[in-house]
Amino acid sequence: MRTVSVQLGNRSYMIRIAPGLLKQLGGECARLQLGDRCAIITDTNAGKHFAKPAHESLVKAGFEPVLVTVQPGEKSKRISVVEKCCGQLALHRLERKSFIIALGGGVVGDLAGFVAATYLRGIPFVQVPTTLLAQMDSSVGGKTGVNLRAGKNLVGAFYQPRLVLCDLDALRTLPEREFRAGLAEVIKYGIIYDAKLFAQLERDLPKILKRDQKTLAPVVARCCEIKAEVVAQDETESGLRAILNFGHTIGHAIENSFGYGKFLHGEAIAIGQVAAAKLSQKILGLPERDVGRIENLFGQAGLPARINLNSARRKNLFTAMRLDKKVSGGEVKFVLAEKIGKVAWGQKVSAAMIEEVLAG
Ligand SMILES: NC(=O)c1ccc[n+]([C@@H]2O[C@H](COP(=O)([O-])OP(=O)(O)OC[C@H]3O[C@@H](n4cnc5c(N)ncnc54)[C@H](O)[C@@H]3O)[C@@H](O)[C@H]2O)c1
Ligand SMILES: [Zn+2]
Repeated sequence: MRTVSVQLGNRSYMIRIAPGLLKQLGGECARLQLGDRCAIITDTNAGKHFAKPAHESLVKAGFEPVLVTVQPGEKSKRISVVEKCCGQLALHRLERKSFIIALGGGVVGDLAGFVAATYLRGIPFVQVPTTLLAQMDSSVGGKTGVNLRAGKNLVGAFYQPRLVLCDLDALRTLPEREFRAGLAEVIKYGIIYDAKLFAQLERDLPKILKRDQKTLAPVVARCCEIKAEVVAQDETESGLRAILNFGHTIGHAIENSFGYGKFLHGEAIAIGQVAAAKLSQKILGLPERDVGRIENLFGQAGLPARINLNSARRKNLFTAMRLDKKVSGGEVKFVLAEKIGKVAWGQKVSAAMIEEVLAG
């Protein structure tokens, strides 16, 4: 088993990565003394595969978990669903000495984490991420929240889990498109932080696409380690943490202007990262060869690298970008790469230049 620790003083926690970890869920929760009662929040897809083993493990450890199941998909990341979940917790009399298990992908993690952050002003929660994206990105770092009509993740809280269990077996049932979408974040870690990881991905992608656990385990662990390192230095995104948003300014705008659901998050940020690489070439002198390597790797992973926009869509996209939280004082600020493995944040980019790279 691989373990990565997230160092945040008295809110520090462990991320465990291995096959078969779901069986240990109950024992781990008991060991951490998270409380007497608990609820599993999941969606119908993850629940179908994992609610039973999660429930059994918790029962074995002496808990009587309440099961709260939401609809799958981004649409569940909304305030009305938070209200429904909290209503269920209240109905089953979960009190302050209770905790929540987020069992599912990033949608469930963000939603259940926000429920945990706000129900009774905060009760502990454990992340059991079941998508690749959730295992090495969304379950780590404590960003929780839901969407508004006006944009993604506009309501939320920084709230750290007490433990993250990445059971690699969970990835077996993940649809191919979702798995590939998760790889967009994996590639991102290489670009923003670790040229060696990027090169390893170029080499090992075929094995990773086959979900070979021996290859996947160190990659997931390295991504968690990078996220943990970044978050430990800047938990609330006053500086460095912004680098995790590489490709996300355009990516979020794509998700938002096309409506959630047309593009998966990973697909939208693949397009966003390729665009950011092209902006990086123009503004920070990222070598053309590196832009090519980046475009190639996304292609090899079966992810989109560009998007065709008519003028109405383009207008929508720019409106969405201006609403993004990364905009300050009216200017769109980007994370751009100097080279693979090293980025700079807070880079001002003009609308004209963004249009140019999106058109090309
Ligand atoms: N909090 C953060 O720091 C952070 C970071 C990145 C992304 N996010 C958020 O994460 C969300 C995307 O997460 P996601 O990509 O995991 O999507 P998701 O949670 O929607 O999961 C993708 C799909 O796979 C299903 N599923 C989950 N696990 C499965 C399994 N093991 N087998 C079969 N099906 C399974 C889900 O029901 C869903 O249909 C977005 O809302 C994004 O904003 C948050
Ligand atoms: Zn992301």
